[in-house]
Amino acid sequence: MGTHDNKVAIVTGGAQGIGRGVVDVLSSEGAKVCIADISDEHGQEAAETINKNGGSAIFVKANFEKSDVPEKVVNECVSAFGGVDILINNVGIQPPASYKNVEETPEDIWDAILNVNLKSYYLMSKYAIPHMRKNGKGAIIHIASVQGLQSMRGVPAYAASKGGVLSLTRNMSLDYAKEQIRVMAICPGAFNTPLLRNSMAGDIEEGFKTMGEAHPIGRIGQPEEIGHAASFLCSDKASFITGEYLVVDGGMMAWGNWDTGDQGE
Ligand SMILES: NC(=O)c1ccc[n+]([C@@H]2O[C@H](COP(=O)([O-])OP(=O)(O)OC[C@H]3O[C@@H](n4cnc5c(N)ncnc54)[C@H](O)[C@@H]3O)[C@@H](O)[C@H]2O)c1
Repeated sequence: MGTHDNKVAIVTGGAQGIGRGVVDVLSSEGAKVCIADISDEHGQEAAETINKNGGSAIFVKANFEKSDVPEKVVNECVSAFGGVDILINNVGIQPPASYKNVEETPEDIWDAILNVNLKSYYLMSKYAIPHMRKNGKGAIIHIASVQGLQSMRGVPAYAASKGGVLSLTRNMSLDYAKEQIRVMAICPGAFNTPLLRNSMAGDIEEGFKTMGEAHPIGRIGQPEEIGHAASFLCSDKASFITGEYLVVDGGMMAWGNWDTGDQGE
């Protein structure tokens, strides 16, 4: 028996990176998975690999910058699998051209980031919740970021989107708690994904090593480590958890920047 046997999960941006880590873990624990992603190549490959290995997955081509897409994704999932139990709102973008202060941020980049990282979470929830209601319960996980909790310079749109995701999580948890539809967020630290790789200049492995040192645990994270956290939160073992965020960051948010490392030595 798998934890998610007979459950249907939609993972947005599930073809690569953190989303793929979540897809692989949920599928290995019995869920039927709908991978909604803009990448044909990686989405097809992910679904084929899962189906070949005895799991059950479909790929739905989706561009979450567009507001008519979420309803279609939910409908395709319901046609294929008969419902929706779990929604993982994971898709997120942080294009290198967005690393600017507010004065320099072009409006189209602001809109693209907010549409993908925040508005798609609202719209996917809007269309998935009626199907969860039919099942008498459901779980929604929003992938936020440690950047929803603290900030850095030059990321106004991304920071606003992640703060918005955490606030949306709290609100939705209250609106749907009575219906046993739980809404939670995960705040990743730095993870080894195409998004992080594309945001780096110079030697990537060297950059990962330096970034890893900012995490007390001494390394950056791997996508399946978010997968396992998400799997627990959307399982019945977490049935009294809602409205909460889980930081999965190797201890980074616990680390005060006044700690020079010399104390007590
Ligand atoms: N990687 C990190 O270090 C990190 C840290 C904190 C939070 N996050 C968050 O985790 C989530 C996943 O990030 P990631 O690093 O895996 O990203 P990624 O870019 O590596 O993967 C994102 C996936 O989303 C797809 N995608 C991109 N734009 C899309 C669109 N418009 N419509 C549909 N699909 C689209 C891509 O094809 C890809 O499969 C994001 O919300 C991101 O903000 C990542």
